[in-house]
Amino acid sequence: MASNNLLRDPDPLKPSYLPETLVDRENTVSQLSEFDPSSGRNLLLHGPRGTGKTTFAHHFLQFDDTTTCYISCDQFTTQYQVLKQVYQILTHEEIGTGHHTSDLQRKIEERTGQRPVVLILDEVDFLLLNDGGSLLYYLSRIENRENLSLILISSNHSSLKEQVEERTYSSLQTNRIPFEPYDGETVYQLLKNRAEKALRPQSLHREALGYIASTTQNASQALHWLRVAAENTEQRITEEDVASLKDQAYREYVDHLLQPFTEHHRLVYQAIEELDEENKVDTVNTGAVYQRYQDLCQAYEEESLSNRRISDYLKQLELLNLINVKYYYGGQNGKTREINLIPF
Ligand SMILES: Nc1ncnc2c1ncn2[C@@H]1O[C@H](COP(=O)(O)OP(=O)(O)OP(=O)(O)O)[C@@H](O)[C@H]1O
Ligand SMILES: [Mg+2]
Repeated sequence: MASNNLLRDPDPLKPSYLPETLVDRENTVSQLSEFDPSSGRNLLLHGPRGTGKTTFAHHFLQFDDTTTCYISCDQFTTQYQVLKQVYQILTHEEIGTGHHTSDLQRKIEERTGQRPVVLILDEVDFLLLNDGGSLLYYLSRIENRENLSLILISSNHSSLKEQVEERTYSSLQTNRIPFEPYDGETVYQLLKNRAEKALRPQSLHREALGYIASTTQNASQALHWLRVAAENTEQRITEEDVASLKDQAYREYVDHLLQPFTEHHRLVYQAIEELDEENKVDTVNTGAVYQRYQDLCQAYEEESLSNRRISDYLKQLELLNLINVKYYYGGQNGKTREINLIPF
């Protein structure tokens, strides 16, 4: 990495940075500000990756006299893990292992009776791969229901109708707020605001920002790209610099998405990448991916996981929008799948 003499302050280019000013989205802002946590209704914020869902949830969902629990379900993927986390946030008490789900539920009910709670379940799709449906059913019927509101955030589903049972869907009563992809101009403005905070004056050509903004609508990818460009450029960042760093920027964005997951998720992704590169064809099949994954495990002296676990991991990579999977049923091999990488 080159010396960081272009970077004045790296923070505004980090994924965790909360911007003071938000670009665009007046409609979304007014929909969010109308939300009343004591209305007994819930919210679903949905839209593709990098459209500001998490950022807006953090900005606008601070209510007086209300406790907000934020949980990212790519890290806490089961009902039990989420309940445990909710309990810890509400009580500031660590809780050991070995409790029953119903124990945790009872303890939480005792707490939610006292003060209104807003529970934000970000990346809820990962929870729904497991027993998230049961958790949502339980929460939608919890005692003191009027004291608990749910804000669910999804990058894959614009409605929960197909994702949960009918009885859960009807008792959830969610208002949906769509996050449409940003256009080039908005991404440009968003990058410019951050660049002004993060970079020294005169360190960026306007065309460099234009190049990023016309290539991706995903604000998170765009900000990773700008940071990689700033870290790897000595003089002024030009359009050529940005273009030549595209692959590295995507790699860092992927690392960021995979960060809450295990080493084995990274190995599966690496296996798909390698096969994709070698084959020069669009799709690879799951058998080949599993074989390559096992080879990689051997090379890194890791014990490989079962085919079944790797199948689950593929579903998670799909929810991260890193791969597309096509399912074919029937035929000689029963169920088969073809996988392709989603390009930058
Ligand atoms: N309207 C906006 N104004 C300023 N910054 C924004 C805006 N929208 C998004 N960003 C920035 O873009 C990045 C991505 O936003 P965010 O993580 O909220 O998107 P997301 O929709 O939650 O993405 P994902 O689905 O991948 O979790 C963040 O760094 C955020 O600060
Ligand atoms: Mg998010």
